[in-house]
Amino acid sequence: MSRLVVVSNRVAPIHEGEATAGGLAAGVMDALRQSGGLWFGWSGRTLPQSVVPPDSLTPGSPPAVACSGPVTLYTTDLTQRDYDEYYKGFSNSTLWPTMHYQISLARFEHQDYLGYQRVNRHFAVSLAALLKEDDVIWVHDYHLMLLATALREIGVRNRIGFFLHVPFPASSVFSTIPVHAELGRGLATFDLIGFQTEGDQRAFSNYMREELQAETCPEGHLQLGHRVVRTGVYPIGVEADPLRAEAIRGRDDPAICDYKGRLDQRALIMSVERLDYSKGLRQRFSAFERFLVQCPEWRRQVEYLQIAPPSRSDVEAYQTIRRELEGEAGRINGRFAELDWTPLRYLNRSFPRDQLMPLYALAAVGLVTPLRDGMNLVAKEYVAAQDPEDPGVLILSQFAGAARELDGAVRVNPHDEAGMAYAMKIALQMPVAEKRDRHASMMRSLRTNSLDAWRDRFLFDLRLAEAGLSAAA
Ligand code: F6P
Repeated sequence: MSRLVVVSNRVAPIHEGEATAGGLAAGVMDALRQSGGLWFGWSGRTLPQSVVPPDSLTPGSPPAVACSGPVTLYTTDLTQRDYDEYYKGFSNSTLWPTMHYQISLARFEHQDYLGYQRVNRHFAVSLAALLKEDDVIWVHDYHLMLLATALREIGVRNRIGFFLHVPFPASSVFSTIPVHAELGRGLATFDLIGFQTEGDQRAFSNYMREELQAETCPEGHLQLGHRVVRTGVYPIGVEADPLRAEAIRGRDDPAICDYKGRLDQRALIMSVERLDYSKGLRQRFSAFERFLVQCPEWRRQVEYLQIAPPSRSDVEAYQTIRRELEGEAGRINGRFAELDWTPLRYLNRSFPRDQLMPLYALAAVGLVTPLRDGMNLVAKEYVAAQDPEDPGVLILSQFAGAARELDGAVRVNPHDEAGMAYAMKIALQMPVAEKRDRHASMMRSLRTNSLDAWRDRFLFDLRLAEAGLSAAA
């Protein structure tokens, strides 16, 4: 069997137990541990520009290497300029907000796009030096849309697949990016493009037809000039049983026991995500406030634990949302707290998975209400961590990819604060028989769309696809 080579901007901590909730890196690491292979990405380090000759991008420098069982990790450093233009600039100030429908927050600078192209080429050159002839290359996420083009340009002939972890927006939204056509053609250069949901796949096909004049071939693929563009839907999953086992193991962790004691029989509502404007935190805080106003009988009986580690904190939009949330958390607690009760516990730090799983199991309600999300693995992890005899209730945004599968969740529109407040009440009062039924139905879907199934289905289709050896015209 050919070797699997995974490429992503962010790579996971290589040692088990270090991974936190959700996200690409945790999922990819779990998937790779099963199949083995090579993982290539950014080291997370930036070199001062002064140590790097202009535009050299250190293509010849050997990437750092670490091993964990069958996974070999290679990383490369970026320069400060790369970081500013490629990561902070084009990836996270142009692409991220646009892919999440926040076009008023999107900023485009041509210089950033040049940095994005440069780093995609740099990844290609560094990776090419590591490749064997029959390796299958699996590229992940929006940072690397031009990687297949860059690899083909330097003569790499391997099969190259791409999986988009974030949503693909409506054609009218994606085409607000001034260089959208180059990105579209870059995506079309991959031999297979995977999406989280049918909605994302449809949006991409519409975009390709409307903006790049692609046509639909009889087999259902897209045709762009001479190129056949293959797409598929592969919802990323979780490995449910190990997560439940982790939740059970963690019950005796002193920190968890201590927190449980402090809760003192209060019902726990819990949310976990990176501090990001796409996650709907502001709307959720307001909904919780409404809930406390409208259901005074629940005051003192409930605690809302929000874990939100800061991310991308040098991007202005992230500084703004952080300031807003700090203000809101303080205001809500100031309004409702008692000497012996703090309604909202807001923690700006990350937790290891072996502590999060028992916390999920403790939570009567998992509150996952992003404004847009590719999948949202926290929703799936929350379900997996529950005790099937006495499970908690998942409240889930209709705009998370996971909402397509998790039919046992209480579905909400994250823009409807009153609706979310009502959902909290419904969830907290739900009879145990209904909670069990809903949980059982969601577990069936977790088992069907597991992490192994995600990896195996994508790689099966990629191995069937022919390597198209030129870039899309
Ligand atoms: O959702 C896309 C994603 O790649 C997630 O998998 C991950 O949580 C996040 O973005 C990583 O962001 P960053 O690498 O900027 O910290």
